Order: sequence, then structure tokens, then C-alpha cells
Amino acid sequence: MPRVYLETYGCQMNVADSELMLGKLAAAGYEHTENPDGADVILVNTCAVRENAEQRVIGRLTDLRRHMTRDTVLGVTGCMAQRLGARLLDADSRVSLVVGPDAYRALPDLIESARKGERATATDFDLEEHYDDFQARRFEGVKAWIPVQRGCDYRCTYCIVPYTRGPERSRALADVVRETREVVAAGLSEVVLLGQTVNSWTDGTGDFGDLLRAVGAVDGIRRVRFTSPHPNDFSDRVIAAMAETPAVCEHVHLPMQSGSTSMLKRMIRRYTREGYLACVERMRAAIPALSITTDIIVGFPGETGAEFDDTLSAVREIGFDDAFTFKFSAREGTPATRMPAELTVPDDVVDTRYEELVRVVRGISRERNMRRLGERREVLVEKAARKGGDLLQARSRDFRTVMVPAEGTAIGEYLEVELTGTTGSTFTGTPVPTSRAVRLPTLAVN
Ligand code: 5AD
Ligand code: SF4
Repeated sequence: MPRVYLETYGCQMNVADSELMLGKLAAAGYEHTENPDGADVILVNTCAVRENAEQRVIGRLTDLRRHMTRDTVLGVTGCMAQRLGARLLDADSRVSLVVGPDAYRALPDLIESARKGERATATDFDLEEHYDDFQARRFEGVKAWIPVQRGCDYRCTYCIVPYTRGPERSRALADVVRETREVVAAGLSEVVLLGQTVNSWTDGTGDFGDLLRAVGAVDGIRRVRFTSPHPNDFSDRVIAAMAETPAVCEHVHLPMQSGSTSMLKRMIRRYTREGYLACVERMRAAIPALSITTDIIVGFPGETGAEFDDTLSAVREIGFDDAFTFKFSAREGTPATRMPAELTVPDDVVDTRYEELVRVVRGISRERNMRRLGERREVLVEKAARKGGDLLQARSRDFRTVMVPAEGTAIGEYLEVELTGTTGSTFTGTPVPTSRAVRLPTLAVN
């Protein structure tokens, strides 16, 4: 059997796409290998969202040559493949395949041709494509990524995604529910619904609230998450579905990008500072235990000191449980690159603001986490802790990372823990007797 090695960069949607590609290739007779040495096919599934993501891939393509023989096929897939197309073939003589996010159905054929020496690009968008008939080969043992929507119809001025993943399209509810059932049958109990603006999902018969309720009603599902939503698509109906569906976890990742209305306008985010705050309020009113994380960009063209201060004050006012912070990266072809050059924020200003933002975000997150000490959480044990040793890494419904003792605990197990320590960002948890164990003797007596 020919062997395929695959590396994934970027977001969870890319991870899900990698799982689909490997599933498709397995069906076509390829064996997956975790080692690039001796692989017949090497695929690099790429991200284009920031310049440094692309630089990393370019470096990696050079590194991978060490593992290749004359016959190894090297393919680039994903957002960078879509963005650069044939330019990648010109730039790197060893790359023989460039395949965009809507063209993975053709992967086995393209690889066959490449093994005969043909170089090719496949970057057409396909507005019907959801890979519904693919059997994903899942990497994760405890949770499943389920794409429910592909592409994006928003046009935020900094963002390359509408150009790399094409127009928005939603997958049919019945297909999402079917995949959820398969995931449960395979022994998993957590799903993460994926889409670029996932809560704008609609299959023409219902909205994202209906989808949440349908997935949450699948027998055996204990946790439903989704990422990433857009604030404008949180209708009262969708929020009610979150609140009323027990499996939907008490966490939302809600990209803010900026806390300044004038900046949000230049980003064409389609909401104001007040609109974002109101969305947070409505969600917290419906789901009091909700934890909220976000994405923030620093140094977007024209960012003034006052606008940056608005971001800091919004961060403080909302009290995010965590935030991913990014320095603005100009992406060729996006509207932001057509803004006047004098609006460019100097690197040293961006660096200073970025450091300040990170400091504020970490301080708030530490303070919020300290207050959680002594509380109990149900955690799902996900994997060995990165530092190894005798700890496993688990996750609470409200998305906190909790280290638990490995002894007597298995990956995939749910535990009730008391949060006994925190680094400021992650927790240590001490298992407590579950309510079931406590109740059993009582039942026996009765
Ligand atoms: N520069 C910096 N950050 C970006 N993001 C998207 N595009 C850019 C860009 N051009 C960030 C946004 C988004 C996250 C996935 O990446 O914050 O929510
Ligand atoms: Fe994901 Fe966006 Fe990166 Fe594409 S460009 S891999 S959609 S984060």
C-alpha cells in the first residue's frame, strides 16, 4: 500500500479537512503514516490567515525535502494552496500538487497523476461541496470536529478567508445529525460544530438554534461546542437554544477583533462596541455560567492610541476568560491592503500595544481563574499532559484546562473534580467522589 504523511497548520476547520482527506485516501488504498521518511505522498495542509503562518509552511516545505526520495509526491493543500495556486509550483520545484479546500474529492486522482510525473493545481470553488460521503479518519480520541458550514460571506477588510474558502454554504441538518450519530457509535460523546461564521448556519429550513437542538438531542451526546460564531448572528432564538440544550457547553468563543467602533467600522465587522457589549450581555443573561473567549487584532491600519485604549477598556469591561491576540498582518488582495499607506501603524507601536494587551488579558484571566479555586467542575479527560509525568489534561464544559492525576483515570473518561490550584491560566483538579458513588449506598439501604 502507498503511504501518505500529512501535516496540518491553521484552524480546526483545517484539522477537520485533514481528517476528511485521510479518510478519502484510505478509501483509495493509501495507508496513513506518522513518519515522513519513506512516505510515498507528503501533504501539507496550510493556513493563509497571517504572513507568519505562510512563512512557517515555506520553511517546512524545504525541511521536508530531507525526507523525500526522487519519487515522493509533495502536495500543498488548504488556504495557502488556494491563495497562491500555480505560484507555488513555480516557487518550489519539488511541489507537484496544489489543491484548494473545495477540491479534495479529486485528491486520489491528482496524486495518481503526480506519481506519473504530472504537476497540477486544483483550486476551483464548488458551492455544493461538503464531502458528505467521506468517512473522516479522526485524529482525536475524545471529541469530533464536524464541519457544518464552509466558506464565508462576511467581508472583514483584514481577512483572506473569503478568498481562500469561497462563499458561505451550509450542510444539511440531516447530514450533520447523521455524522453526530456515527461519532457517538464510535464511542465519542463531544462534538465541535465548525464554520467560519458558524451561527449563521441555515439549510433553508431552520437556523443555527435548530441545529444545536437537533445535535444536542442525539442519544449519547454529552457535549456540544461550536466555533467560530459572529456576534451579529446571535439571535435570541439561537441564544435560547444554547441555554435550553443541556449538552451545549457553557462557553462561547466570540471574536471581538477591536473594542473601538471607528476601528470596527474600518474592519467592516458590521457591529459597534456597544453592539458587541450588548451581545455579551444577552448571552450572559441567558447563560449565567458562560465563559467567553475572544480574538483581538492589534495594529490594524489607522489604529490610534484612543482606539487601542477602547480595545483595552472593552477587554476589562467584559472580562474575557481568555483571548487570542494577533498583530495585524497585511494579506494580499484584502481591502485592508488598499488603505492609504500612511495609515500603517509602525512596528514598534504595534509591538508595544501588543505587549500591553497581552499583559491586560493575562491579568484578567488570572484574576477570574483565581476566583474559581474551590469550585467543582465536570471534566472530560482528553490526553496526556504536555509536560508528561503523572498528569492527564482534561477540559471542563466552560473550556478550562484542568490537569488531573493519571493514576486510575483513562482518556475519554468524565470526572468530577475540585479546582485546587491554578497557574493563572490552567488548573489542577482533585477528583471528588461522584454524586453517583455517594448515592449508591443510600439506594442500597432503601
Ligand atoms: N492579521 C491578523 N490577524 C488576523 N486574523 C484574521 N485575519 C488576520 C490578519 N490579516 C485573526 C482574527 C481571526 C483569527 C482567526 O485570526 O482575529 O478571528
Ligand atoms: Fe483556517 Fe482561515 Fe487559516 Fe484557512 S486561513 S486555515 S480558514 S484560519
